[in-house]
Amino acid sequence: MSATGKQRKRVLMVGLLCQDILNLVHHYPAEDEDVRCVDQFWQKGGNAANSACVLSSLGESTEYLGAVSSRAEASSALQELRDFSVLTEHVVYSDCPIPTSCVIINMQTGSRTIVHGHRNMAELTAEDFSNLDLHQYKWIHFEGRNTAEVCKMMGIVEEYNNNVATPDDVIILSTECEKPKYKMGHLIPKVDVLFVSKEYAESCGFCNAEETVTKLLQRVKKGCTVLCAWGDQGADGITSGGTHYHCQAFAPEKVVDTLGAGDTFNASVIWGLCRGTGLEEALRLGCRIAGQKCGQVGYKNLHS
Ligand SMILES: Nc1ncnc2c1ncn2[C@@H]1O[C@H](COP(=O)(O)OP(=O)(O)O)[C@@H](O)[C@H]1O
Ligand SMILES: *[C@@H]1O[C@H](CO)[C@@H](O)[C@H](O)[C@H]1NC(C)=O
Repeated sequence: MSATGKQRKRVLMVGLLCQDILNLVHHYPAEDEDVRCVDQFWQKGGNAANSACVLSSLGESTEYLGAVSSRAEASSALQELRDFSVLTEHVVYSDCPIPTSCVIINMQTGSRTIVHGHRNMAELTAEDFSNLDLHQYKWIHFEGRNTAEVCKMMGIVEEYNNNVATPDDVIILSTECEKPKYKMGHLIPKVDVLFVSKEYAESCGFCNAEETVTKLLQRVKKGCTVLCAWGDQGADGITSGGTHYHCQAFAPEKVVDTLGAGDTFNASVIWGLCRGTGLEEALRLGCRIAGQKCGQVGYKNLHS
């Protein structure tokens, strides 16, 4: 396949679609206080869904895949994905309530306090995944959850990659280590790009982003790039050859909403790497666009 052929392929983001209910407040309420919020709105959420919208805003042809509630209450979240021009034709519907996060955004600091209800949502299965025509994709990112099943899905991609006609058809695999409770051990050695959260890093006993990427590089496969975002400290990345980069955070004029900063970071890094920027520039893009996001509410109008 020619370079232009590769450019026509999509990025696929696999994970959860949620409903976020955002409450914007001037100060964080005390327990049992009765407060009025400054503003309240519904927004689609879920890591993969958020990253998909950012990638699509940046101009990348992007598809979202996950198990999605078929109930009426889920229709606005799905519609919002479509409003961002994210493709959704392969989602698998399930008659479950939509997972919902109630979020308090403290506009003073931009902090986001999240109470998440999973509500027994069904998970995507490897069997669902096996119905895809993988020729359409150049990059597949898996949220690091439902790991036993995701491991099988990655296996399907590996199998495909081992049998492609030309190297241009090889699909790049990425995932994230977000929550310590998910067993990531089997996924880490499978991917080409690994994103690690501060929370996960700290659960491994690492003190900063540089230590995290350096230590995790020993657990990934040959050729894998590792990145770690560390809130207002910015982010670090390391190439498979061991070259380390740090990028500082780009502080917006005022931090108003940090919900999904990490998802914006990942999406922007993937966007950069898809365009062949190399790690140093991709890190910068990640921090710059994530910083932009922190300075505004929601994900609209993000740009490079
Ligand atoms: N307060 C902030 N000011 C500027 N940039 C920020 C701020 N918080 C996060 N970012 C940017 O977003 C990226 C991801 O943030 P992080 O807090 O690590 O993600 P998550 O949303 O997963 O908790 C950081 O690397 C940084 O570039
Ligand atoms: C992006 O990576 C961060 C870790 O840097 C993680 O917390 C977040 O969930 C990831 N988002 C996706 C879509 O994987």
